[in-house]
Amino acid sequence: MTAEKRERPEGAILQGDMMEYRFHPSILAADFKNLGRDIEQVVQAGADGIHIDVMDGDFVPQISFGMPVIRSIRSSTDVTFDVHLMVANPERYIETFVDCGADIVTIHAEATRDVENALKQIRRAGVRVGLALNPGTSLSTLDYIIDDVDMVLLMTVNPGFGGQKYIEKATRKIKALRAMARNEDRELDIEVDGGVIAENLHTVLEAGANIIVMGSAVFNGDPAANTARFKEEIARFSS
Ligand code: DX5
Ligand code: ZN
Repeated sequence: MTAEKRERPEGAILQGDMMEYRFHPSILAADFKNLGRDIEQVVQAGADGIHIDVMDGDFVPQISFGMPVIRSIRSSTDVTFDVHLMVANPERYIETFVDCGADIVTIHAEATRDVENALKQIRRAGVRVGLALNPGTSLSTLDYIIDDVDMVLLMTVNPGFGGQKYIEKATRKIKALRAMARNEDRELDIEVDGGVIAENLHTVLEAGANIIVMGSAVFNGDPAANTARFKEEIARFSS
C-alpha cells in the first residue's frame, strides 16, 4: 500500500496546555521472525504508533532493516509509522521512506551537511518532520530551524543499539527543550528514545516528553501486557 492511498493519522497535536501523549514501541527489540504478530499485539494493546529504527552501518555501526520490511508491515496496520533514520546523508532516501508508508520521518542533525534543506524535503514529501539530536548535541542546533520541525527526538542513549541505559543528564535537556518550546508558544512534539523503562517513564513525562519510545521494555516479556501497562501509566500521568 503506498502512502498516498492510505488515510494518514494526524500525529500528535498540542493545543494550548492540552498535550497529547503518544506511545510508540520500537520494533528493534521485537521478535523479527514474528514481527507481524508482535506489531499486532502492541497495536491491539493501545500503541499509538510504531517506532521504526533504520540503521545503515555508517552513521551507526549496526545495520537493522530497510524499505522492504517497512513496506511489508505497512499493509498490516494503520497506526502511525514513526521512522527514525540513523542513516548518513538521509536526504537520499526521504521520498522512498514516505512511499514505504512513513507518517513521521526523523533525520539526525549530525547526519547531514544541510539540515534545513533536508527538513524542508521531508515537509515537501507531505509527512510530519522530525529532527533527532544525539545526547551530546546542543539544543542550540535548533536555533533558526525550530519552525521547520514538528517533532524533536531527543536521544536518551547514544544511537545504535537497543537495551542501553538511559543517560541521566538527558532529563535536563528534555526540560530545557519543553521550556524553549513554551517560550516560543510552539506546538512541539518531544520524543524520547533510548533506555526508557518502567523506572524512568514518569521522569521523562514530567520533564516534558510527550511521545514515548520504548523497545526492550516492551518486547522483552509480554509485548501486549507491557504496552497496556505503560499506556496506563501515561494516561494516569496526563489526567
Ligand atoms: C537506539 C534506537 C532506539 C531503541 C530503543 O539507537 O533509536 O529506538 O530501539 O530501545 P530501548 O528502549 O531498548 O533502549
Ligand atoms: Zn529510535
